[in-house]
Amino acid sequence: KIEKSKKFQDIHVEAARFYFSNLLSSKNLGYEYLRKRGLDDKIIKTFGLGFAVDSWNSLMNYLISKGYSKEELVECGLIAHKTEGNKYYDKFRNRVMFPIFDYRGNVIGFGGRVLDDSVPKYLNSPDTLIFNKRLNLYGLNFARKNIVDRTVVLVEGYMDLISIYQYGIKNVVATLGTALTEQQGHLIKRYADTAIISYDSDNAGVNASLRAMDILVKLGINVKVLDLKDCKDPDEFIRKHGLEEFKKAMDASTHYIKYKINHLKKSFNLNKDEERVKFAKEASKIIKELKSPVEIDYYTKYLSSLIDISTESIKREVYGKNYNKS
Ligand code: GTP
Ligand code: MN
Ligand code: MN
Ligand code: MN
Ligand code: MN
Repeated sequence: KIEKSKKFQDIHVEAARFYFSNLLSSKNLGYEYLRKRGLDDKIIKTFGLGFAVDSWNSLMNYLISKGYSKEELVECGLIAHKTEGNKYYDKFRNRVMFPIFDYRGNVIGFGGRVLDDSVPKYLNSPDTLIFNKRLNLYGLNFARKNIVDRTVVLVEGYMDLISIYQYGIKNVVATLGTALTEQQGHLIKRYADTAIISYDSDNAGVNASLRAMDILVKLGINVKVLDLKDCKDPDEFIRKHGLEEFKKAMDASTHYIKYKINHLKKSFNLNKDEERVKFAKEASKIIKELKSPVEIDYYTKYLSSLIDISTESIKREVYGKNYNKS
């Protein structure tokens, strides 16, 4: 099994080299695409970005010439097998390729992006002997060497990560679209005490943020959320506003309790008495998640300022029967 892992590892390195040389040799559409998105040669090299040409068998033929079997390539998720007609073909075609690294920097999978708006936008390697999505964090191999103040920025995608990395935010990891898992939380915990969530500002991103923060908080991580203002994701933000503004946004990022209260507030019409009361009760439940009396006091004041209900009664709501003891 160890020997097989080693072999699969070699296959991925060969594939990454192949895609990389495709990208640079002909300065093709893939290269143009990445340049248009603002990536320079240096960052393309650092992340080993590549291109899968529009062919059904170029990677397959190359790897077979290196002595690997079709069956092995299928198991690596690089080629597909159609039993009907017994056909084998490259899975990634006409896509820009992002090698996925493990925390040590070994290539263990790939993501491939189309050059236009066809679907699926991204195609990712399936789980294999050497790749388990739920256990891996994209970019951790770079981030762990660039952790500052035991703080890590958490983004959704390849482009977000590479983009802000190029600008100088190097303590960043990505969950690659999927919801953050507890295992990924544990990985973060090894290197950081604070996580700044910077997922997309759309509904999917907000919901993923809410789920990620619960997991991270349970692990004892201090969680904040970055406000992307008018932008849809960190990539767009840093291109539009620059590094300094991004750093300011990191500094000003919102404590997760405040973020949750603000998010909850959106679903109430605070002009109506009953909704105001209901919001106060629901928001008190959020404050209840806190253990530190100082934090409880702080966010109680914040909530009180939003709805003009006394801190006294919010605290009664939060502490319940234990109010007098506190
Ligand atoms: P760009 O459009 O290139 O800027 O990508 P993005 O990262 O902004 O895209 P999006 O916010 O839609 O997705 C975030 C991440 O989710 C991507 O980087 C991928 O890892 C993953 N993802 C997005 N679309 C798909 C898809 O169609 N299939 C799969 N499997 N993953 C996807
Ligand atoms: Mn656990
Ligand atoms: Mn998204
Ligand atoms: Mn996005
Ligand atoms: Mn994007």
